[in-house]
Amino acid sequence: MSHVCSVLFVCLGNICRSPTAHGVFQAKVAQQGLSAHIVVDSAGTADWHTGKAPDPRAIAEASTRGYDLSELKARQAMTADFDRFDYVIAMDESNLQGLQQLCPEEYSGHLGLMLEFAPQQNLVEVPDPYYGGDEGFAEVLDLLEQACDGLLARACKDFDLAYDSSR
Ligand code: 4NP
Repeated sequence: MSHVCSVLFVCLGNICRSPTAHGVFQAKVAQQGLSAHIVVDSAGTADWHTGKAPDPRAIAEASTRGYDLSELKARQAMTADFDRFDYVIAMDESNLQGLQQLCPEEYSGHLGLMLEFAPQQNLVEVPDPYYGGDEGFAEVLDLLEQACDGLLARACKDFDLAYDSSR
């Protein structure tokens, strides 16, 4: 069966926040038994790191929680992504603005901000951890685990897929 729903995570470089979201969301999709139904990808608004693996700090922090980011490769977001992905989810306001410039008007409903799906957090943006220390990568993971739960529950509701919140 072909997939029924698709999610693209977007940050600036596609080496810290969005690949982390990609790996966490993919794992949660697998935990729900939905890997055949939900397609997951990530991209950056910038092309600086195209073809590169995630930042070693992001890979290391994710691996401490059981997520494998090591096979991911950075790419730049493009206009065609809005047709391919049902949800195009930005990590911060600046990424969202960059995406709005690429987004055909008829697809503006596909755009969202990641932390809209973690309303228990009082933050609007996933902070950029690139110029900081390891603790920034742990905070990013905390935020993204919560937001991925919220987004997956929402996607399942929107696309009539079974979601078990106890998993
Ligand atoms: P990301 O973090 O957008 O979460 O991947 C960054 C990665 C690289 C740069 C900035 C932010 N950079 O300036 O190269």
